[in-house]
Parts: sequence; structure tokens; C-alpha cells
Amino acid sequence: MKQLWLFNQITNDLQRVEKELMKFVETDYPVLHESSVHLLAAGGKRLRPAFTLLAGKFYGYSLDKLLPVAMALELIHMATLVHDDVVDASTTRRGRPTVKAKWGNIVSVQTGDFLFAKSLELIAKIDHAEVSRILAEVSIEMCQGEIQQIKASFDVRQNLKQYYYRIKRKTALLIAASCRLGALVTEAPARSVWALGAYGHALGMAFQIVDDVLDITAKPKDFGKPIGGDIRQGIMTLPMIEALRLSPERNRLEQLLAQNDKSEAEVQEVIGTIKASGAIDESMRWVDLYVNKAKRHLAELPDVPTRKVLNELAEFIRERKF
Ligand code: IPE
Ligand code: IPE
Ligand code: MG
Ligand code: MG
Repeated sequence: MKQLWLFNQITNDLQRVEKELMKFVETDYPVLHESSVHLLAAGGKRLRPAFTLLAGKFYGYSLDKLLPVAMALELIHMATLVHDDVVDASTTRRGRPTVKAKWGNIVSVQTGDFLFAKSLELIAKIDHAEVSRILAEVSIEMCQGEIQQIKASFDVRQNLKQYYYRIKRKTALLIAASCRLGALVTEAPARSVWALGAYGHALGMAFQIVDDVLDITAKPKDFGKPIGGDIRQGIMTLPMIEALRLSPERNRLEQLLAQNDKSEAEVQEVIGTIKASGAIDESMRWVDLYVNKAKRHLAELPDVPTRKVLNELAEFIRERKF
């Protein structure tokens, strides 16, 4: 994937992250190497390492300090993607067959563990107690989010609180950590570390809501992963919760959403009902709230050019199609 133009300030350093990651997943175990490279080489937005590098731009930018953190974050992210595609039985990711589709569940579990273990190798080298603590905490919370998601699947009676509990853990905390750690290792003052973390948190919430909207509205070619995956898996997302509230067809919708093993026609019907209900606009209003909240936290940071980039990244997350 071509780098986002928003990353212009960090182009070379992001390329270095890329190169180092490619070298770092080399191993004598051919299958693990192939499956890791398969996912890595497929691209992806590299949002988390980019956030770390950008957050490092406000004070004492040092690639030596930022590089292992940025790499560790992408590795943790990739580990969760590989495992997530097993849990969600998903067939495509980053425009390619998933590791699950190509190698099956056992290799996927091992690949996810391998990528996570490689992140530990880096974290140990960073040798910064606060960094290890934050990443350990976030990893634990991510598991909590995934477990709650499985427990709540096909439960059409769940409320917004459960949804927000989940997306905070699945997604927002890691994006928050990406921003916060970039500031932390470059010795930003505590207030800025906090503000960048708060920016990342709000933006991470917006990011997952947009992902949940795109699961219904995206073009498969842009999105790089299947459309309607959440509907098939019974994962109740904000557009579904809103459609159950807004749609005149709510009884039929409730029955379909609760049903395991939907036919393709039923999945399409659910998509049509959600789109017709106004739930997409309603969900995007929540996105706006979070994007605006993220932007407000930027006001607490020094007025360097990167601040504008982070502001535009927030816009990108609102508008993104992939
Ligand atoms: C996918 O994350 C998982 C979610 C948190 C929605 P990204 O959309 O950042 O995935 P890549 O890294 O660009 O493939
Ligand atoms: C993303 O949730 C959370 C993690 C991968 C941890 P999704 O299940 O929505 O992610 P995609 O849509 O499969 O990328
Ligand atoms: Mg998934
Ligand atoms: Mg999704």
C-alpha cells in the first residue's frame, strides 16, 4: 500500500520501521516466516507506528528511541489481526487471503503468538518500565474486549454501554498507547503525554465506529476485507444497535440479527435495512463527536507543524473508505 500523504513528515522513518519489521520477523521456521511476511507485505495503513513517530515530533524526537516502540505496536496489532481472523472466520485481510484462509487455524494461532512474542523481545530491549507496563495492560484489556465480544454475540438486546466497553478495549486503547508512548519515550512533559494519549483514545473510538460502518457500507476492493462480516458473526455494532432503534422493520431486523447461519440474501437484507434506517448517519454523528474531542486535546500541545498533521489525521479517520 502506498503511504498516506499525511505521513510525509515521517516518510523515511516509517520506511525504516517497515524494513526493520521485515528483517525482524525472519525465523528459521519457514511457515511462521511465510505467514508473517504474507500479512506484513500486504501493507496495511501502519497507523499505530505512524502515531508513535508523529507523537515523538513534539519534543526530543529520536528514531533510536521510537523505532522499537513503533515496531512493537505494529507487531501487537498484527498478532491481534491474525487471531481475530480465526475468531471471526474471516477470509480476506489487507486485500489478501487471511492467514487463516491460507494456512488454517493452527498456523494462525502460532503466527499470532509468534508476532506477539516478537513484540516482547523488543519491549524487553526498550527497558523502560512504564512502556512495558502500558503495553502489558493494553494487551490484557484487548483480550477482555474480545471475550466480551464473543459472549455478547447474537445478543440483540445489548446496549450502547456494552458496545463502548468493547471498542475501547479492542481498538482505542492500542491507538491511545501508540500516541502516548511516542511522547513518553521522547521525554515529553506529563501533560503532553496525557493529551496525546487522550487524543489517541478519542480517535481510536472514532476509528472503530468507522470500521463498523464500513463493514456495512464499504466497497470490498477499497476495504480489503469482507463486507457484512460483523452481521454474519453476530457482532452487534453501533449501526445495528441504532437501526434496531430507528427502523420501522425493527422486528424483522431483530430476528435476522439474532439468527446464526444467515443466507447471503438475508445478510444483504440486513445491510439494506440498516442503510434505509438512518443508522449510518446516526453512527457518523458519534464519529464526529469523538473526532472533535480528539482535536480539542491537540490544543494542549505545542504549536509545531505535526499538530496540524494530527488534526488532519483525525479528519482522515472520519472520511476514510479503507
Ligand atoms: C483493523 O485495523 C482492526 C481494527 C481495529 C478495526 P486497521 O484498519 O488499522 O488495519 P490495517 O493495519 O490497516 O490492516
Ligand atoms: C478489530 O475488530 C479488533 C481487533 C482486531 C483486535 P474487528 O473485528 O472489527 O476488526 P476487523 O474488521 O476484522 O479488521
Ligand atoms: Mg474481525
Ligand atoms: Mg471490523
